[in-house]
Amino acid sequence: MQSTCDSKQNADHVAIIMDGNGRWARAQNLPRSAGHRAGIDALRRIVRAAPGHGIRTLTVFAFSADNWRRPANEVAILMQLFGEFLDAETEDLVRDGVRLSIIGRRDRLSPALVAEIERSEQATQFGDALHLRVAVDYSARAAIADAARALGPNVSEENLTATLTGEDGDVDLLIRTAGERRLSDFLLWECAYAEFVFTPRLWPDFTEADLAGALADFGARNRTFGAIPAEAA
Ligand code: FPP
Repeated sequence: MQSTCDSKQNADHVAIIMDGNGRWARAQNLPRSAGHRAGIDALRRIVRAAPGHGIRTLTVFAFSADNWRRPANEVAILMQLFGEFLDAETEDLVRDGVRLSIIGRRDRLSPALVAEIERSEQATQFGDALHLRVAVDYSARAAIADAARALGPNVSEENLTATLTGEDGDVDLLIRTAGERRLSDFLLWECAYAEFVFTPRLWPDFTEADLAGALADFGARNRTFGAIPAEAA
């Protein structure tokens, strides 16, 4: 067992809880749907910028299993926006070498949206510049329970880690916007050693400079993974 840490300062896997679309819209006297549309523009910006900052996997929280509690018209708009996003972006994702995966339950999504997801995932499957994982109808607790059920008697910490993180590995850096400081059932297992950056910036206003700032903050942290810093050993 190591007595000191290997300091690993590149954030290979970044996760983002994209919060504040509604507040952004309200501040501008716009409907919430306009906030979600602006949120998609922000997502597009960050996906384009991510590979240039050394990010290999970007996992974003678009719709939690608990978001079904929102008013039906907002849920309908979000589902429509997911479909529009897939339709509008797939070609650019292929061009930019971005592999898209949607994580979460699919059985509560419309068959048309599921077909659109499958088309986009297939079209982008060979992208190797970035793995973009969009969480839709996602709950980390449910994902852990599903993985444990699938492993049956082979359930172990190592096998659960392999099942849940796969080639993407643990989350290095988790960013949440709009001043909230919660994990909200997102990537609970994968964030065991994640560094957290909370920013007051509303998601539609989040820019590449904000991403660079979060990565610089991450880079200055001392990650010991339970060991002690090398200089203290
Ligand atoms: C949180 O803002 C945001 C969401 C629940 C949805 C996130 C969706 C997007 C960024 C756009 C759609 C994404 C894709 C992939 C098509 P909020 O509505 O909770 O804002 P508030 O807390 O200010 O009300």
